[in-house]
Amino acid sequence: KALRVAAISGSLRRGSANTGIIRAAKEICEESIPGLVIDHVDISDLPLLNTDMEVDGGFPPAVEAFRARVRAADCFLFASPEYNYSISGPLKNALDWGSRPPNCWADRAAAIVSASGGSGGSRSMYHIRQVGVFLDIHFINKPEVFIKAHQPPKKFDSDGNLIDPEIKEELREMLLSLQAFTLRLQGKPENSEH
Ligand code: FNR
Repeated sequence: KALRVAAISGSLRRGSANTGIIRAAKEICEESIPGLVIDHVDISDLPLLNTDMEVDGGFPPAVEAFRARVRAADCFLFASPEYNYSISGPLKNALDWGSRPPNCWADRAAAIVSASGGSGGSRSMYHIRQVGVFLDIHFINKPEVFIKAHQPPKKFDSDGNLIDPEIKEELREMLLSLQAFTLRLQGKPENSEH
């Protein structure tokens, strides 16, 4: 049975490069990694976290639907821009909603990739890893994929589609590493993905 990857973009922008990375990851899995299925989970309709919205342990419908997709996943892929040296606000909001008891993130593997400005998003990635400590998310360490989105040569078209073949190959390696680590964490042999 294929592993289900809940993939979340930290950018809500039309034409987002990070959302483009998730589309590329989905294509890569469909073409050449039959053991992984990408479920692109859109976080744009989540309200800003306010625990007053929780009534008798229930959540607003958009939050409930989001939490169900997170719970159904075997592992996670985060593609997020760095905002002011840290996690994008929308992604932090989604992480926080998923963390409300019972924590929906726990005991799953995750990979992070970032298309950002100068540093390629490395600073935000280490902040995401720090948040994941409390959420019991287990991140793969390598490969690290930091994409300097605005430096030549052009890596994304104007709709945010990834057009760089080398980065596509790095993404493929990252997805294979996520698959292997997820199977290890689930106690399955690493060649059991089909
Ligand atoms: C940014 N950007 C940015 N880049 C970076 O490398 N380090 C940073 O600290 C910041 N800070 C920052 C703050 C805010 C409020 C914005 C809007 C942008 C640039 C940003 O990461 C970059 O443009 C990404 O390519 C945007 O990702 P999407 O929307 O194309 O997915």
